Amino acid sequence: MENMKGLRVLITGGSSGLGAEIARQLSREGCRVAISGRRREKLAKTASEVRQAGGECLELLGDVTNLAQVKSQYAQLKTRWGGLDWAILNAGVSDSRSAREFSAENYRWTFDTNVGGVVNWIEAVIPDMLAQESGAIAAVSSLAGYRGLPQSGAYCASKAALTTLLESTRIDLAGTGVDVVTICPGFVKSEMTDRNEKSQMPFLLETADGAKRMIDGIKARRRVVHFPLPLSLTVIYFLHNLPDFFYEWFAARFIKRKKKPYVDESKAQN
Ligand SMILES: NC(=O)c1ccc[n+]([C@@H]2O[C@H](COP(=O)([O-])OP(=O)(O)OC[C@H]3O[C@@H](n4cnc5c(N)ncnc54)[C@H](OP(=O)(O)O)[C@@H]3O)[C@@H](O)[C@H]2O)c1
Repeated sequence: MENMKGLRVLITGGSSGLGAEIARQLSREGCRVAISGRRREKLAKTASEVRQAGGECLELLGDVTNLAQVKSQYAQLKTRWGGLDWAILNAGVSDSRSAREFSAENYRWTFDTNVGGVVNWIEAVIPDMLAQESGAIAAVSSLAGYRGLPQSGAYCASKAALTTLLESTRIDLAGTGVDVVTICPGFVKSEMTDRNEKSQMPFLLETADGAKRMIDGIKARRRVVHFPLPLSLTVIYFLHNLPDFFYEWFAARFIKRKKKPYVDESKAQN
């Protein structure tokens, strides 16, 4: 069993939702947490909650899509703690669009964040983790990566790409002491899902519950962490294995993806 006291943990996307809750829960277990995000005020709010509860929190303001910023954030963290034990690469975006309003820019932005943000951080942390022969890289993908959902092409494709790249990375790093954990949640309350209609999110979990399942999966070093069970079984064993023509018929009629548009608050805050 890993000793959580003093464990050095980075959480990207720590300014809201799952990332902020993971930071609060891990700090209660005695971990030192570093949180990254673009919204200064939200990042400061999470950090102050962690400190008020007696924890240690390092705020790393910046954008995961910018490799120079990511490397400079990692340098700050290394100066403070000497290195890192867990990298929880959680930052992500979703702005659902129908292919009838196809936007290459929307795809680029989604991939830059959901895939590019993870690979930037992996490049930053991996040399030191390999040198110390220990560490966990846990990245947050999604059950949405298993099939193309209506009006979610960019998001689903980005999460499918992420799941696949993590699988390859895990195989390459086997035996080095660095573990790779892929996290595939269903629906969890957060700013992202606040923009969805509730009726479209079966088995919606509370944020604290989702964050705990993610932490437990990393502690257990599960290769792939799926939750909640009923939605995971439906997606992985039913929808994923349906013949294409039947899946597309089913998805067009029964999967609704109405969502309020994403508003980038970071531009107004900084
Ligand atoms: N909630 C769900 O049902 C669900 C299900 C499956 C997977 N997920 C995944 O879980 C992760 C966390 O999402 P959430 O549900 O907690 O939503 P959220 O509350 O919207 O959190 C997203 C986080 O990502 C950060 N972020 C976005 N773009 C960024 C960028 N360019 N640079 C740095 N940080 C950035 C945001 O911070 P700033 O805006 O401050 O930068 C925010 O802290 C995402 O990867 C999401 O795809 C969520």
